[in-house]
Amino acid sequence: MSHEVVEKNIGLMAVLILLVISIAGLVEIVPLFFLKSTTEPVEGLKPYTALQLEGRDVYIREGCYVCHSQMIRPFRAETERYGHYSVAGEFVYDHPFQWGSKRTGPDLARVGGRYSDEWHRVHLINPRDVVPESNMPGFPWLAENTLDGELTPKKMEVMRTLGVPYSDEDIAGAGAAVNGKSELDALVAYLQNLGTALASRR
Ligand code: HEC
Repeated sequence: MSHEVVEKNIGLMAVLILLVISIAGLVEIVPLFFLKSTTEPVEGLKPYTALQLEGRDVYIREGCYVCHSQMIRPFRAETERYGHYSVAGEFVYDHPFQWGSKRTGPDLARVGGRYSDEWHRVHLINPRDVVPESNMPGFPWLAENTLDGELTPKKMEVMRTLGVPYSDEDIAGAGAAVNGKSELDALVAYLQNLGTALASRR
């Protein structure tokens, strides 16, 4: 019986198991590349501005994703607290995405517009000045580090090769838009934009 052959030959069984898992995996993953709802930006989604893009890099460098997710799950407990659940089309310009999975702090997917710029500045320098019980670390150096914008056009060009629709003018003006701003300015600009494309449907 062929079944017996497979069961008694561990090498053959390993190969067949790999084959089954590979096919099953592909069947799940490949269609996502062709589904409009996962590849098309939601209406109103704009690529990050030069300053927001730099702020996103600060977010990644400082490891904010270690404590914050950016992905609201479609459960009532989540949508009542954070707003509309996240949809794939909100992240098509995110390379790489910052969904995360660890929530020591709250999800940030819809934090844009929830607080004033000034609140964020105070909070990022020393969270306990606005949230006394907070155990989030302070990031005071962000206010002192100045950006020169030298690499910003290059970063945008790379994003363009990944499908982000930056125009030549966007890229040409990027250095000037960033030069002289602090890392704190950039990070706040990034945070204030998070989740706002879907905000009208909250
Ligand atoms: C060690 C874990 C930790 C790290 C790292 C961390 N946070 Fe937080 N964050 C928290 C906690 C806990 C709170 C809730 C208390 C508070 O508001 O300070 C919070 C709150 C926030 C809030 C307010 C969210 C809301 O809806 O009220 C923002 C915005 C935020 N963090 C941004 C950041 C950014 C940006 C970084 C990286 C520069 C960062 N956090 C790094 C733990 C962290």
